[in-house]
Amino acid sequence: MVEPLAGEITVYFYAILFARYPEVRPMFPQGMDAQRDRLLRSLLRIVDLVDEPESLVRFCGHLGRDHRKFGTLSAHFPAVGECLLDTLARYAGPAWTPDIAAAWTKAYGTVAQVMISAAEQDEAVRPAVWPATVVRRVSRGHGIAEITVLPHMAYEYAAGQYVSVETPWWPKRWRYYSVANAPREDGTLTLHVRAVVGGSVSGALVHRAAVGDVVQLGPPMGDMVLDAAEHDELLFVAGGTGLAPVRALVEEVARRGGRHQVELFLGARTVAELYGFDDMLRMAQRHHWLTIRGAVSHEHIPGIRGSLPDVLADYGPWYQHDAFLSGPARMVDLARETLTHNGTPARCIHHDPFETPVLSTP
Ligand SMILES: Cc1cc2nc3c(=O)[nH]c(=O)nc-3n(C[C@H](O)[C@H](O)[C@H](O)COP(=O)(O)OP(=O)(O)OC[C@H]3O[C@@H](n4cnc5c(N)ncnc54)[C@H](O)[C@@H]3O)c2cc1C
Ligand code: HEM
Repeated sequence: MVEPLAGEITVYFYAILFARYPEVRPMFPQGMDAQRDRLLRSLLRIVDLVDEPESLVRFCGHLGRDHRKFGTLSAHFPAVGECLLDTLARYAGPAWTPDIAAAWTKAYGTVAQVMISAAEQDEAVRPAVWPATVVRRVSRGHGIAEITVLPHMAYEYAAGQYVSVETPWWPKRWRYYSVANAPREDGTLTLHVRAVVGGSVSGALVHRAAVGDVVQLGPPMGDMVLDAAEHDELLFVAGGTGLAPVRALVEEVARRGGRHQVELFLGARTVAELYGFDDMLRMAQRHHWLTIRGAVSHEHIPGIRGSLPDVLADYGPWYQHDAFLSGPARMVDLARETLTHNGTPARCIHHDPFETPVLSTP
């Protein structure tokens, strides 16, 4: 009933939350338009999962741990719950019966409890955020920069994972970026950031960040890691800055002694945009287990022409490979379809979520 009114409901919810509990306002970014509906969408996700308690608990646990970086405390949950239920009651109208109200109160309490306990357990073992200093910044053209940061405290992650980043220029605006390297001895992490048109955080990282600036990192996330693979034969498919996690995975295969065979397809619209190709070619020269192919979709060149999903269909078969896909959502979607159509089981196709990760997990 309320889903079609999501936009309006979200505005009302935040309005009463900030009016009744002004102390929580500073936790949220100043302009919240892009994010506004996330809370409601996560509730809808929770409703979807209600008959799968295991997935539900996993989802809420993940959400609770992720909230630590916002500075959320257990004491804030009743305030949010009260405003949320009042909002639902207002928009559901006569359908908001005492039974429904009681069920939602119970459901919110359960979700909040799972989020709070997950956050408390997490607090015992690691920080909520890791300050990190920019130690290197290299512009790669086409609005892409490689930013290398050094966290001030040990930061454990696995190759292929991504991190959330808050910059000093856009406080409270957390955005996700994949780490482009396997864990290094010096503890540094390199991010490949593409400035999107009108983008706030990406624009700041590409055009403003300089050596010495300090950003904040949230905990590492993502299941696109080498340990998720069943096979020794791996297919990596990367478009644009989607190369970052794939590059990290290639380094990880090398770190583990090159026991895997890796076929890497790198795609772009034009040769000039075939970002990172030279770097990967150098890696392929060093490692006999790595084959790399560049595909260009919008230009006539000698070599492979076409979009990545089409090229994949031509080269297979891939049903005995684990596939790792990374890049624009549409490319990943089409590549996944092509692979599934050609017999790769879904469990062997790995990719990151396209949007807010907490909304796509599990
Ligand atoms: C799991 C995950 C991993 C990611 N890894 C990387 C990475 O390694 N490198 C990287 O550069 N980005 C990556 N992203 C995207 C990144 O998190 C941001 O969404 C992106 O940098 C835009 O943020 P912004 O604050 O600059 O834009 P916003 O201020 O949020 O958006 C401004 C405008 O840009 C539009 N916009 C937002 N994102 C995009 C986009 N991707 N393409 C085109 N238009 C957009 C919005 O609709 C809006 O109109 C990743 C995202 C996820 C979910
Ligand atoms: C059942 C309870 C809750 C649910 C389901 C929920 C859900 C969400 C989701 C899905 C996001 C987006 C996360 C992301 O972008 O990575 C989010 C962001 C956020 N939440 Fe919650 N949340 C809950 C409770 C709370 C509470 C109690 C607070 C404290 C006041 C809070 C504060 C925030 C803040 C500050 C953000 C960041 C907003 C932004 O970046 O625009 N949340 N929440």
